[in-house]
Amino acid sequence: MRSIKENYFTMAGFCLLLLTVNGVAAEPRSGYEFITSDTREMQDDDFANPGLLTVERGEELFNQKHVSNNKSCADCHGEGGEKFNTKEIARYPVYNSKTKEIITLQKRIKNCRSTISDKTQVTDHPDLVALETFVRNKAHGEIVNIQTDGPVSELLKKGEELYTTRYGLIDMSCYHCHTLYPGQMIRGQKISQGQANGFPAYRLATGEVTSLHQRIQQCLTLLRADPFDTDSEEIKLLGFYLMSRSNGLAIETPAVRY
Ligand code: HEC
Ligand code: HEC
Repeated sequence: MRSIKENYFTMAGFCLLLLTVNGVAAEPRSGYEFITSDTREMQDDDFANPGLLTVERGEELFNQKHVSNNKSCADCHGEGGEKFNTKEIARYPVYNSKTKEIITLQKRIKNCRSTISDKTQVTDHPDLVALETFVRNKAHGEIVNIQTDGPVSELLKKGEELYTTRYGLIDMSCYHCHTLYPGQMIRGQKISQGQANGFPAYRLATGEVTSLHQRIQQCLTLLRADPFDTDSEEIKLLGFYLMSRSNGLAIETPAVRY
């Protein structure tokens, strides 16, 4: 039962913190500012950043001709994606008001992919994450620019509700850690604002490139909660809201994070 005791210990610690930390919404700051200088160096060095291997893998998939019709992504988007409008990529996720659907970048890629391949892949399939990493990396340095007005504002409100809901045995919300406690240490890690501008990101803890939705699921697991399903409305709303909080930050994909 050691872990339960630890949880209560953690909760008690955070209750104390609640009294001392003032939760005024801060300027967005990238997770980059909260990682160690070693990790920052790794992210900035194209030879050392392990996420770049996933970018390369994504590029291979991007140029690969599908057997069913001998077509590739590059046929429409140019060799290496040179025809992409990177400002457009920085707008994802977007809302399609006709189908009333949140379209993440990965979903957009999945939709495009279905026009050239007869084999569909599940959300967060490693190939889709690799394609997403490649595409988002094209927009490296571009400023996150999520729509927040019109029909989207209602959705973001729902996302914010999920962000402030308590989850799991630990009984804490995302807001507690990522809005109230950035800069505080937890299990040797400095808590950041939980921004989305580095995703998909390489995680040192798992040795894998991780999509934003997977990272949300990992934080829910940390809270000893059942994570929202991959294709659930909740995870899309949370992801949409998190990315909107990152408006104004530069895209860092693939970021290196703990
Ligand atoms: C038959 C042509 C075609 C193919 C093949 C294709 N796409 Fe697209 N793709 C499009 C069109 C057209 C749009 C713009 C849709 C719109 O205006 O909303 C688009 C949009 C996108 C976007 C959103 C950014 C933007 O520029 O609007 C991404 C990302 C994308 N495609 C990735 C891919 C990937 C990855 C593949 C391969 C798996 C792929 N596409 C294959 C036609 C294609
Ligand atoms: C008990 C504290 C805690 C809670 C509650 C928590 N997280 Fe986290 N989260 C962490 C820690 C620790 C990290 C790794 C260090 C960092 O980047 O903050 C992290 C990282 C993240 C990151 C990656 C940030 C980056 O720059 O790479 C995202 C996104 C995130 N969390 C989202 C969420 C969401 C969404 C929730 C609510 C469902 C949540 N977290 C709840 C502790 C927490």
